Amino acid sequence: MTASVIGVTGLQVEIAGSRILQGVGFDVPATGVTALMGRNGVGKTTTVRSILGLLPDDGRITAGRVTFDGHDITREPTHATIRRGVGYAPEDRGVFTRLTVAENLTLAEREGRAGRHHYDLVHDLFPDLRDRAQQRAGTLSGGQQQMLAIARTLLNDNRLIIVDEPTKGLAPRVVRQVTEALRRVAGELPMLLVEQNLAVIRQLADRAVVLDNGRVVHSGPAAELLADRERTTTLLGVGRAAIPRTTRVPDAEEDSTS
Ligand SMILES: Nc1ncnc2c1ncn2[C@@H]1O[C@H](COP(=O)(O)OP(=O)(O)OP(=O)(O)O)[C@@H](O)[C@H]1O
Ligand SMILES: [Mg+2]
Repeated sequence: MTASVIGVTGLQVEIAGSRILQGVGFDVPATGVTALMGRNGVGKTTTVRSILGLLPDDGRITAGRVTFDGHDITREPTHATIRRGVGYAPEDRGVFTRLTVAENLTLAEREGRAGRHHYDLVHDLFPDLRDRAQQRAGTLSGGQQQMLAIARTLLNDNRLIIVDEPTKGLAPRVVRQVTEALRRVAGELPMLLVEQNLAVIRQLADRAVVLDNGRVVHSGPAAELLADRERTTTLLGVGRAAIPRTTRVPDAEEDSTS
């Protein structure tokens, strides 16, 4: 049996008096990509933010438990959890738009300086970020900002990377680039990936956990879920046409909007 990095059990969360998570439970094994899926507003980001101690002021965990390497981290301060070795690329990317690319990367270094090998990896994965080191992050494209958000998670010796909807709102050509970058990152570290794009899931995910209305309604091998079109349609509310037949994310040539 593979050990888990993260274990979530019976997690209930209230925000502003509303029950948002109704008892979420799943594991993030120490290898591969675990996809957290589900329609808009089902509680994916709330789950991630609960793990990281990043609920809003009017939000709280009312029941359940989160572990990291078997240690109880429920309600642990964010900085303490992050120091255990968690890299996080948030839903809004969290890039400092008025700072340069280089400054954004420097700020992401924890506990002293990142090593040469951290930057070598970043520049190998994202050559654009080296070329644009002195450019203000706010002037980057959406895809480049997403690459920067992912790059920041690679500057520390992390044990786990959490990425929240990295391909949201990106043109298909850029989705392809980000997916390829994530595929290479996933070769280095286990990942909890919040994602709704099934083509991206098909390329990256080993396991799939599907939320609906604050509950886990499915978990298992990603390939098994994707192969079951009825189930995918029921759980994710997507039309049959949206389910990719191939393992590729569409090429730019196939999409006139990019
Ligand atoms: N700060 C908040 N205040 C009030 N309600 C919130 C807050 N954050 C989230 N919610 C509510 O919690 C529910 C789950 O939201 P969450 O952002 O976790 O969903 P999600 O699955 O990440 O959705 P999306 O795919 O749109 O990112 C939604 O109904 C949302 O309106
Ligand atoms: Mg979200």
